[in-house]
Amino acid sequence: MAEAGGAGEEFIVTPWKVEGKVDYDKLIERFGTTPIDDELLRRIGKLAGELNHLLRRRIFFSHRDLDKVLDDWEAGRGFFLYTGRGPSGPMHIGHILPFYLTKWLQDRFGVNVYIQLTDDEKFLEEERGLTLEETRGWAYENALDIAAVGFDPDKTFIFQDTEYIRNMYPMALKVARKVNMSWVRAVFGFDMQTNIGMIFYPAIQIVPSLFEKRRCLIPCAIDQDPYWRIQRDIAESLGYYKAAAIHSKFLPPLTGPTGKMSASQPESAIYLHEDEESVRRKIWKAYSGGQPTAELHRKLGGNPEVDVAFQWLYYFFEPDDARLRKIEEDYRSGALLTGELKLILTEKVLRFLEEHREKREEAKEKLHLYKYDGELAKEMWKKIHE
Ligand code: TYM
Repeated sequence: MAEAGGAGEEFIVTPWKVEGKVDYDKLIERFGTTPIDDELLRRIGKLAGELNHLLRRRIFFSHRDLDKVLDDWEAGRGFFLYTGRGPSGPMHIGHILPFYLTKWLQDRFGVNVYIQLTDDEKFLEEERGLTLEETRGWAYENALDIAAVGFDPDKTFIFQDTEYIRNMYPMALKVARKVNMSWVRAVFGFDMQTNIGMIFYPAIQIVPSLFEKRRCLIPCAIDQDPYWRIQRDIAESLGYYKAAAIHSKFLPPLTGPTGKMSASQPESAIYLHEDEESVRRKIWKAYSGGQPTAELHRKLGGNPEVDVAFQWLYYFFEPDDARLRKIEEDYRSGALLTGELKLILTEKVLRFLEEHREKREEAKEKLHLYKYDGELAKEMWKKIHE
């Protein structure tokens, strides 16, 4: 994987795989993106009227052309947002994170949001072993989780590739003709065994960035950046803007500071449908920065930098800076024990999941407002699971 990092590298980040302990500064260099600096943050804060904690804390830490998005906004040209989800199964808390920043941006700037569900991509990834009927069904299930985030129905479009393809295919062809095999091989690490569906697929993920003749801003984790690199090299020749992107770090797995949460390791993640007992158990077992005994912990204190419970509060579950600082200080000094810290997180996760599930229930009646046409997918889901 020439551009994404491969053998001999201490960590790997591609759209399909995250391994090792990710060094985000190195990743910025490797991918050729730009760090989000204080000046840019100040500018967003001024235009938006406030700063979301995901930005303030540099969870979204890197970008491409975010400054130009703000220029466009100030000049009255506007912009639009695009993000997505690969429906390979139930969504975990990491997957929903970019959707929260997307919603915040929509609320603050009042812009259109396009959300792509790539049931085609997740079928084509053979190692997942999913049938097309399954990925189409998961697209409907995931659409409910995404709708629960609360996007503005008048300005949001959720679509899944196998259904909306008729409208995307002409543009996908225009994109595909500009991208050759050696290029996708270098960017994605494809080889002679890669099925030809995967080789065409990048064209499909690029298309929504060309839905409007305005600059597109894409909130996502950094693993998706390779697509935007290609998009940016061809968009102007098709008469469109180069996509802008804003990249997040990965919410760390519960099991420890390396890799990404993954379905193959259920203990590494908490899913949006997870029940209370299992949430309590997983957080209780999570990788900790505490000392082996309470006595030692009181004496030496814990290390919040590697403590997953603290990291989860930092990333998502404690947006209040003052409260987070207090937790951090108490943990570092030893006043707060690992078990106590884990309980703080557990209560917050449980409350979040409960609220999420209520909003997800309501979303069942609202999906049509996002013009999502999931009827077909719903039927398939029923056939498989009932
Ligand atoms: P998928 O389903 O792998 O991931 C959905 C979104 O979640 C981000 N993400 C994470 N963010 C924080 N912490 C994590 N641990 C974590 N794991 C995943 C992903 O970067 C993504 O933003 N091919 C895409 C679907 C897609 C898409 C897009 C994503 C199509 N068009 C446009 C972003 C923007 C995929 O399989 O995402």
